Amino acid sequence: MNHGDGTPAAGAQERRFGPLGTALVIIPTYNEAENIKTIVGRVREAVPEAHVLVADDNSPDGTGKLADELAAEDEQVHVLHRKGKEGLGAAYLAGFRWGLERDYGVLVEMDADGSHQPEELPRLLTALKGADLVLGSRWVPGGRVVNWPKGREFISRGGSLYSRLALDLPLRDITGGYRAFRRETLEGLGLDEVASQGYCFQVDLARRAVKAGYHVVEVPITFVERELGDSKMSRDILVEALWRVTTWGVGERVTKLTGRTAKPQDGKA
Ligand code: GDD
Ligand code: MN
Repeated sequence: MNHGDGTPAAGAQERRFGPLGTALVIIPTYNEAENIKTIVGRVREAVPEAHVLVADDNSPDGTGKLADELAAEDEQVHVLHRKGKEGLGAAYLAGFRWGLERDYGVLVEMDADGSHQPEELPRLLTALKGADLVLGSRWVPGGRVVNWPKGREFISRGGSLYSRLALDLPLRDITGGYRAFRRETLEGLGLDEVASQGYCFQVDLARRAVKAGYHVVEVPITFVERELGDSKMSRDILVEALWRVTTWGVGERVTKLTGRTAKPQDGKA
């Protein structure tokens, strides 16, 4: 991976990475009443110094209220109530803003349903000591998925492969949602221009990080399919992802051909 000026990834070793500040684990929720207490408890136990922010989209099943109860008894747990379901991307953008306005040095993305195991977070944070962004990865050696239907695995692998080729990214798991960012990395990604709403938000941020020259590291994780509640993956989410990734890919190629300076497109075209 280069650093914007064409120097190879090895250059990363010469870079000094500052100490990691306090981590904020952002957990977006929509109808996760069966999972929220367990996941917050597991995070608090696995990384006791970290804070948690639940970003709830006014879940009809009362997830937000349960999160408020957790926050009332633990000053390291916070809740961001949003007015309605606006998508994973919008919830994360609001959560990042909340964290960046405060004193957190690291911002973590994690699903509420147990697929991203909090017990693996210390490994991600250790890797972040020498990186700008760490991706929890199912598709590098040592990474795997447990209990996923074959069809879902096909979509996920296909989504990462297509994104890798279309956007020329040297990454294996581009759609995953278990990640740790340094504050400075998020500040450098141009979050105000991000228009992605659904799960392609993950592709959008990964591509922005690589194009900005950040040192992105993939760490193997074991992704465990949820036991309770339902996935929010939908046809609309897939269509948005396919459409945006294709638009970005075409935009980059046109940019190269016409010799203009590359700059991440916002995909609003
Ligand atoms: N606030 C909010 N608003 N949260 C949402 C929304 C939304 O519109 N949609 C989904 N979520 C939350 C869920 O409640 C859950 O905590 C997390 O986002 C992931 O949603 P799932 O529905 O469990 O995703 P998945 O298991 O199908 O998809 C997984 O794989 C995707 C593709 O690799 C996740 O790891 C995704 O992050 C990933 O992009
Ligand atoms: Mn899930």
